[in-house]
Amino acid sequence: MEHQFIQRKVDHLHFSLNPESQANGANFDHIDLLHDSLPDLNLNEVSIQSNFLDSEIATPFFVSGMTAGHENAGAINDRIALMASERGWIMGVGSQRRELDSVYQDQALQKLSARFPKLKLISNLGLAQLIELHQKNELSKLQKLIENTGSVMIAIHLNPLQEAIQAEGTPQFAGGLEALKAFKIIATIPMIVKETGSGMSEATLLKLKTLNLFAIDVSGMGGTHWGRVEGLRAKENSAASRFGKTFGNWGISTLESLLTAEELFKDSATEIWASGGMRSGLDAAKSIALGASRVGFAQPVLKAAMESEIVLMDWAAQIEQELKIAMFCSNSKNLSQLNSDKVKGFR
Ligand SMILES: Cc1cc2nc3c(=O)[nH]c(=O)nc-3n(C[C@H](O)[C@H](O)[C@H](O)COP(=O)(O)O)c2cc1C
Repeated sequence: MEHQFIQRKVDHLHFSLNPESQANGANFDHIDLLHDSLPDLNLNEVSIQSNFLDSEIATPFFVSGMTAGHENAGAINDRIALMASERGWIMGVGSQRRELDSVYQDQALQKLSARFPKLKLISNLGLAQLIELHQKNELSKLQKLIENTGSVMIAIHLNPLQEAIQAEGTPQFAGGLEALKAFKIIATIPMIVKETGSGMSEATLLKLKTLNLFAIDVSGMGGTHWGRVEGLRAKENSAASRFGKTFGNWGISTLESLLTAEELFKDSATEIWASGGMRSGLDAAKSIALGASRVGFAQPVLKAAMESEIVLMDWAAQIEQELKIAMFCSNSKNLSQLNSDKVKGFR
C-alpha cells in the first residue's frame, strides 16, 4: 500500500511535466488589456502588494496545492517554501489525506513553518476524503490536523474526473455539499474550495455560493489536466489509458470559469481566485483585471523547483515583473487600478 501510494505521487509529478498532460491553454489569448502609451507613472512605482486576511503581502500570487509524497518531496517543498516566504507568495500544499492517519504524521509541514516563520500555508484535502470523514463522524480529525500544520486556510479540492479515471480512485461524491457545510461550521480557519484543472460551471458555483466560503479557486482547464495525467500513467491499452484520451479535453476553461464566477459573486464577500494553465504574469494581469483576487500556479512552480532554487526564484521574479509591465502599460499603479476598465475586449 505504502509503496503504491509513493509510486502514484512520483507518477503524478513525472507525468504532469510531460507536455501531453497539459490542456491547450486557459483561453487568456482571447482577451487583451488596453494599452496606454502615456501612463502617468514609472515602472518602479507599480505595486503588486495585495491584501491577505488582515495583512498586506508582497504579491497576489499563490502556489496551487501539489502533492509531493515521495523521497525528493522534502527538497522540493523546501525550495517552494523559501521562494514563497521570501517573495510573499502563499503556499498551498498537496492533499494531507495520508497525514490524517497518525502513522504518517511526520510533522514535515510543521517543520517547514518553523523554518520559514513568514510562510503562509494552505492545508489541502480532497472532497472524497472529506465525505468519508463526515460519514464516520470524524471531521474533528481534520480540524486537529489543520491545527498541527499551522496553516492559515484549508482548501478542499474537487477532482471528480481524476477520481473516476484513476484505477485506485474514489469517485464517491454524493453528500459532498453537506460534508462541506458540516466542516465549515467547525473549521477555525477560512475555507476555500478549489478545482484541480477542470474548472467550474454556473451550477457548481451556485451550489458553492450557499456555503459563504472565504474563497473559491476555479482552477480551470488550460494547464495540467488530470484526465490526461491519469491516462498517461495507466498501462498502455488499459481502460484508464483510453479514458484519458476520451476525456482529455473535459472541463471548462479558466477564462470561462472566471467570467461565470465573477458574474455570480460580484456582490458576495467570497473571493474568486484563478488558477489552471496560468503561464505568465500577463495571464495573471488579465485574471486580476477580470476580477480575480489571487492567481495561482502549479506545474510551472514544480518544473522550476525540480531544477534548482535559483531557477525557481528567477521564474517567480519574472512572473512578478510581467505583471508589473502589464500594469505599467495599462496605467495601473496598484492592483485595484488594474480593473475591468483595462480590458480592451474579447477576440
Ligand atoms: C504534481 C501535482 C500534484 C497535485 N496535487 C494536488 C493536490 O494534492 N491537491 C490539489 O488540490 N491539487 C493538486 N494539484 C492540482 C493543482 O493545484 C492545480 O489545480 C492544477 O494543477 C492546475 O494548475 P496548473 O495548470 O498551473 O498546473 C496538483 C498538481 C500537480 C501538477
